Amino acid sequence: MITPVGEQMAREIAEQPPALSRLLHDTAQVREVARRIREARPRFVVLAARGTSDHAALYAKYLIEISLGLPVGLASPSTLTVYGARPHLNDVLWVAVSQSGGSPDLVRSTETARACGALTVAVTNAPDSPLAAAAELGVDVLAGPERAVAATKTYTSQLLALWLLVDHWRGGDGRTAAGLPDHVGSALDTPGIDGLASRLRFAPSLICTARGYSYPTAREAALKLMETSYVAAQAFSGADLLHGPLALVDADRPVLAVVGPGDGGRAMAPTLERLAAQRAELTVIGDPAGVPDVHTVVPLPADIPEELSPIVEIVPLQRLAHRLAVTRQHDPDAPRGLAKVTSTI
Ligand code: F6R
Repeated sequence: MITPVGEQMAREIAEQPPALSRLLHDTAQVREVARRIREARPRFVVLAARGTSDHAALYAKYLIEISLGLPVGLASPSTLTVYGARPHLNDVLWVAVSQSGGSPDLVRSTETARACGALTVAVTNAPDSPLAAAAELGVDVLAGPERAVAATKTYTSQLLALWLLVDHWRGGDGRTAAGLPDHVGSALDTPGIDGLASRLRFAPSLICTARGYSYPTAREAALKLMETSYVAAQAFSGADLLHGPLALVDADRPVLAVVGPGDGGRAMAPTLERLAAQRAELTVIGDPAGVPDVHTVVPLPADIPEELSPIVEIVPLQRLAHRLAVTRQHDPDAPRGLAKVTSTI
């Protein structure tokens, strides 16, 4: 039997609502890890991850810094694995995020972080993985097997697992997220993705931008577009874009701007105005809030708390990456040169 091109990725994108429901209904492990973290009273958090998982880690950085007031750093595992650094990590919570639990540099750096005194937590989709064994505590994101090289359902499950962990850590009960599977279900039906893919069909490069909680979405969208559609997609925060990269913008370099709800979305206003003034070929994912000259609007389901919106807003962009790859006659299930687990240290 011949399977249609990109069928695996399409199936895994569609599996997100049930995957998220599973996690919402099975919170015993998250609650226990949150209890252990509260008991340990960390004063600093380090998040370690690569690729898509690094975007989930960036999301968690925003969440922890904003809602718990703790400083968070994103690790450079190479300082431990390549240079042999042995930092003092007492009072530090080290959270390694990895769908496979098999990225060797994460395993090695997590072992080192634990030996250096950190409380270590592995957030993975593989509870029997080397990373889960290396860390003291573990959260299984329960996404189910993911076979397409491009991570989709494991990403949204990582985001929700991290949100649940932080919510229980700060004394919540996780119920704010109850409607999330339905919102993600609506995002799967977002209109206009095929038309947008046709418009971007010949674009050699594009820019993704967003602010605040949505910035990891812009980064993840750029990565998904690069690896499935071979478009040179670069992500900049809406603030950083104005500090130089704006000069790249012209009619031949489309811009995808993610405008989430709340403060982060509102903070995009000056960026959108500058992009419009520069006659950018601008697509807004979310609400363009009165900015003229927006070429395409990909609406997002309404009434999602800002903290949780990244779990929804990435979904139309995953569909776009899939559709654009197929439109350009690439197979998004088998991106050239990539493997599901990257084995370099
Ligand atoms: C992109 C993708 C990769 C992985 C990265 C880390 O779609 O899947 O960027 O996220 O190789 O892999 P894990 O999460 O297994 O450590």
